[in-house]
Amino acid sequence: MITITVPATTANLGPGFDCLGMALGLYNTLIFQEVPEGLFIEVEGERAEELSRDRSNLVFRAAERVFQQVGRRPPGLRIRLINRIPIGYGLGSSAAAVVGGLLGANALLGNPLSRESLLNLAVAMEGHPDNVAPALLGGLIVASGEGESLVYTRVTLPPLRVVVAVPDVVVPTKEARRLLPRQVSLDDAVFNIGRTALVVLALERGDYDLLERAMEDRLHQPYRRRLIPAYGEVVQAAREAGAAAVAISGAGSGLVALAPRNHEEIAQAMRHAFVRAGIPARAWVLPVVEEGATVEVSGRR
Ligand code: HSE
Repeated sequence: MITITVPATTANLGPGFDCLGMALGLYNTLIFQEVPEGLFIEVEGERAEELSRDRSNLVFRAAERVFQQVGRRPPGLRIRLINRIPIGYGLGSSAAAVVGGLLGANALLGNPLSRESLLNLAVAMEGHPDNVAPALLGGLIVASGEGESLVYTRVTLPPLRVVVAVPDVVVPTKEARRLLPRQVSLDDAVFNIGRTALVVLALERGDYDLLERAMEDRLHQPYRRRLIPAYGEVVQAAREAGAAAVAISGAGSGLVALAPRNHEEIAQAMRHAFVRAGIPARAWVLPVVEEGATVEVSGRR
């Protein structure tokens, strides 16, 4: 039996669109077991009743990539999914499914593929590296490109906790990407390049004054904020409660707030601001975790 644990992730961090992502201490568990025949998928936890149990399941599709690449597969497969990462709110649930499926399948076959190859497969499936890379590798990842052109590094951070608030509004990533212009001005591109570099330095130094000025974006948030009800009110509530910076988590609808202190108060303030606007919401204070997905093998294979 193979047990995979994969962390949630928050991508972009404001200006670092498709390039920055961090692993958070909220985990999905995936259990893989070889069986004599058939495909059996059990799902519990977040939106369990809506997820497919057949070959179209994202975890299985990822596993299938590994089986195809290696040219071997178990005769039958049982997959049990315990989902704790909310789905459709910008916390990397699809990246966790992809990374979990790839790792589970690879472990079942005796680990023929390196983490590097698995990362490339994951980026190809997701289309961008900023959730899958930290889900697999942990910490803050700066990544750019895909396939042959993928360049990435992991940045060691001082202990960091982030506030995540999600309104009960699902934003499909595809839809949030469709809203973005295909071309941007040189001014906006230059603005984001500089701000992205500054965000990484601010996080690395734990410099919240710098972060406050650095975490601004012109490439995606101005177009996406209208998908998030009460966006302005929630950002303001977070700032008033002590957040240095607030950004859309991935493609949304969740928001992430960074602050040196008062995390619980900020979480409550953000949740209440959503609720005041009539939107049920949840909020967490989560640590950034240095370790990415883990694989545990137990019992007879
Ligand atoms: N960088 C991606 C986006 C993350 O913002 O569309 C999606 O989870």
